Amino acid sequence: MNPLLTAAQNAAEPLGTKSDSIVITGGKPLKGTIAVRGAKNLATKAMVAALLGDTPSTLKDVPDISDVQVVRGLLSVYGVKVTDGARGELHFDTSKVESAHFADIDAHAGASRIPILFCGPLLHRLGEARIPDLGGCRIGDRPIDFHLDALRQFGATVDKSYEGIHLTAPDGLHGAEIALPYPSVGATEQVLLTAVLAKGTTELKNAAIEPEIMDLIAILQKMGAIISVEPNRVILIEGVDRLDGYTHRALFDRNEVASWASAALVTHGDIFVEGAKQAEMMTFLNVFRKVGGAFDIQENGIRFWHPGGNLKPVTIETDVHPGFMTDWQQPLIVALTQAHGVSIVHETVYENRLGFTEALNEMGAQIVVHPSGLPDHPRRVARRDFEQAAVITGPTKLHGANIRVPDLRGGFSHLIAALSAEGQSVISNMGIIDRGYEHIIDKLDALGADFVYEG
Ligand code: EPZ
Repeated sequence: MNPLLTAAQNAAEPLGTKSDSIVITGGKPLKGTIAVRGAKNLATKAMVAALLGDTPSTLKDVPDISDVQVVRGLLSVYGVKVTDGARGELHFDTSKVESAHFADIDAHAGASRIPILFCGPLLHRLGEARIPDLGGCRIGDRPIDFHLDALRQFGATVDKSYEGIHLTAPDGLHGAEIALPYPSVGATEQVLLTAVLAKGTTELKNAAIEPEIMDLIAILQKMGAIISVEPNRVILIEGVDRLDGYTHRALFDRNEVASWASAALVTHGDIFVEGAKQAEMMTFLNVFRKVGGAFDIQENGIRFWHPGGNLKPVTIETDVHPGFMTDWQQPLIVALTQAHGVSIVHETVYENRLGFTEALNEMGAQIVVHPSGLPDHPRRVARRDFEQAAVITGPTKLHGANIRVPDLRGGFSHLIAALSAEGQSVISNMGIIDRGYEHIIDKLDALGADFVYEG
């Protein structure tokens, strides 16, 4: 039983993850080339969008990660035929979509949060949807109130039971005026996936505008949807009667790129990340440069390396796009343990995303987490009242430790800390990293890491 996971998450952990560990000998710079494929946080939503199409869809550059396998399993439970095309290509035949039972859904939902996004498409196709208790990482309580409030505004009835949530819409769904309390990525996707086939127009205010949202809008437009992104985080969706399938190549994974860039800094390495593009990484690249990292934008990717000299401390605040993404801060904090001076990372999106720093302190880092963040100041985007700040004093020599991976990005951070630490580390529960980093062991091998994997 992993104390960091809920009972549902522990029960749903894929077999073998509990003893799934890697022994790392630190001190070797990571050098070489790795390829990053489609974004975990787009591909999984694009797969759900296929449910809306009357004709087949094809998604390209799909990463081979467990979050994709979870959604694939869920789609098949609802009768969607998912088949493999060329490498990284999935085909979806949605000609026979049918209701599913909680038990079957639960068996596939695992630790993923994506099931909540099935609501709109299933309500349109079947007039009902069943959602089990949701999983996800241990980085906050991950509520879905914005999602359920939006679905009610579209005309759905929401019934919660011990099994999960049962939604019905016997009279179909109609357009709505929805203002999100916070530019939530998931809630924005919920509205998009529901509004496209609702009767009438939907106006969404305070929407998330991350690149993955824009890529999902591009997919929906290919299917026949009418969606316009207005100034000031407003999105207008004119409901249409039907949608066709799509063919789309998923946007690259910005989070994985930022993770490997941080790994290059931490290990004094030099990593070429094939598939990385500058436009979606600009905020990260600015911080990477300020810390003292070097990068070179090339046609087919970005080269990240430690140019020598001392890393410099920075103060950053995580934010919604185009700010510094919350998913980028965990690997970067490992690099900041090597910076000469005091850095501050103010996490403003999740209420418990700095817990992973405890393991870094066991390895010799000097990180103090302030649970209530920094003194407030008037904000452009309404904040939730949970905020945390990490104060990192460097440089500190890291030594090996035994670590159990707590969450996806925290786990990657522990991995790169072990790769730079003196001596050996044993990192267990690696299966959580498989949720979001495709073929992580092959990539570590390609970059010359010194490890033994006991998967
Ligand atoms: C998505 O999560 C990503 N996950 C996260 O990436 C990412 O960190 C996050 O967006 C922010 O960019 C996927 O896309 C699968 P939110 P999501 O709704 O949609 C609160 C990773 O490492 N909130 O934007 O769940 C919520 O608690 C993962 O790849 C509510 O209060 O994020 C959080 O504090 C981690 N009520 C804030 O909003 C709701 O109904 C932002 O959440 C929904 C969210």
